[in-house]
Amino acid sequence: MVLNDLWYKNAVIYCIDVATFFDGNGDGIGDFKGLAARLDYLAGMGITCIWLLPFYPSPRRDDGYDVADYYGVDPRFGTLGEFVEFVSQARQRGIRVIVDLVMNHTSDQHPWFLDARRSKRSPHRDWYVWSPEKPKDAEKGVVFPGVQKTTWTFDKQAGEWYFHRFFDFQPDLNTENPAVQAEFRRVMGFWLELGVSGFRVDALPFVISNKGAGRPPGQRWQMLRDMRLFLQWHTADAILLAEANVLPEEDLEYFGDRDDRMHMLFNFQVNQHLFYALATADGSTLSQALERTRTRPETAQWANFLRNNDELDLGRLVAEQREKVLSAFAPEDTMRLYGRGIRRRLAPMMGADRRRMELAYSLMFTLPGTPVLRYGDEIGMGDDLKLPDRDCGRTPMQWAAEEHAGFSGSKTIFRPVIREGPFGYPKVNMAGQRRDPESLLNWMERIIRMYKECPEFSWGDWKQLDTGIDSVLALQYSQDGGAVLAVHNLSESPVRTSIEVDHPSGQRLFNLLSNDHSISRSTRHALRLEPHAYRWFRVGSEVSGR
Ligand code: NOJ
Ligand code: CA
Repeated sequence: MVLNDLWYKNAVIYCIDVATFFDGNGDGIGDFKGLAARLDYLAGMGITCIWLLPFYPSPRRDDGYDVADYYGVDPRFGTLGEFVEFVSQARQRGIRVIVDLVMNHTSDQHPWFLDARRSKRSPHRDWYVWSPEKPKDAEKGVVFPGVQKTTWTFDKQAGEWYFHRFFDFQPDLNTENPAVQAEFRRVMGFWLELGVSGFRVDALPFVISNKGAGRPPGQRWQMLRDMRLFLQWHTADAILLAEANVLPEEDLEYFGDRDDRMHMLFNFQVNQHLFYALATADGSTLSQALERTRTRPETAQWANFLRNNDELDLGRLVAEQREKVLSAFAPEDTMRLYGRGIRRRLAPMMGADRRRMELAYSLMFTLPGTPVLRYGDEIGMGDDLKLPDRDCGRTPMQWAAEEHAGFSGSKTIFRPVIREGPFGYPKVNMAGQRRDPESLLNWMERIIRMYKECPEFSWGDWKQLDTGIDSVLALQYSQDGGAVLAVHNLSESPVRTSIEVDHPSGQRLFNLLSNDHSISRSTRHALRLEPHAYRWFRVGSEVSGR
């Protein structure tokens, strides 16, 4: 098998909401013209894949996850022609594009729902999930507690209750209906024809679970295989990257044990324990999370992330662990959300402490999987807690120390930029950091380059090396005779540790990021690590590929 063809294995994915990235026509909202103009910036940083949040026509009451037309571009962001132009310009720079696929629900303004609610005989009636009376468990299973009260709402026009896993303006599709499944194959085919390299599959566990009043819980796994088959026959190198915050016991169901379902899953298990490790300097549960998510088909891959467009969901930690993360990173109530998570961006959570941010990113790049960055994190953008819910971390990209952070030339913009305080655009912006060789942006560019020079991180077999201390994590990756090591000190104190490298040339460790190499008489190395230190070593030789 020519594994090197699997581009997603060592991609650098960058998540963008077109609305907040760059306004190309000066009307106060980001668009595809603006995004295309920023492709050289992304290429320069070393990004190889853009994940686009929903840009489809939508009332945007859930930032576009309430889709009103799956075959178009919201006119606020441009035209379908401009979308295609953007995709092809990205491709010319070696950047692929994947797009969000929202199959669980539509907007209540989608023509399918407007038709469905009209009458029991409407062709689209059975595309949604109805009940003649209020189901018993209507208050159970809400995804946004505190904001969303119920999962069933009465529709006057329909004369029935409809099911909505998320907000009431997002009626769930009856994904069991073959007509709905066929329609989504058409949607996938449409965007693939326009040049995308795959999909970020929204809310997948809900898409495939049994829906309907009184239905027993259960998943329809076959749907995953059908999607994969369709995708792969259509475009051989396209991928499915799923959002599935599930327990490790279910991972293989999502990947498919014959590698016939999802190519990639976000590793929510590792994400939550990574924040626990950062909060407590205890890496033992992160170690366990890595082992629990070790098994996956050879060609499948994890996606590792720190923050994304949603709250940092800590729901998989036990209460005591969650409390520790909350009190370390979200001491105030307003920083928390839905009783389970944190709505802040990474930089403020880390107190803008450069060493802690680098530690967090270094972990993300070197844990088993493919890294997923979020726009603005490369310059350490902050959040605006005055904005509601998750919007606080969705402010416009800070390009320069100019009006509206250089995001738009318009007088007014659709969502305010961050102006005041340590994260305001006069202090934190791309242009300033580009000029400063010591900036986080330039650090990020360098770390991405080194990540790409170490294919072992994404392709290799890995094992954890014993460090004797919970605060130090050491991973060794080997592939084709080459090996690299990543060592992280989670604690704010300096530590001494020693590790036994499992490689015949393990006496020589070359530091890839600074000058302190470690040359020893045996394969055991004594290391002194500063607070929050991280080390990337190549084993045996400075240069890979011999
Ligand atoms: C997951 C998305 O990331 C989130 O922002 C959205 O609200 C839900 N899915 C519903 O589509
Ligand atoms: Ca615009």
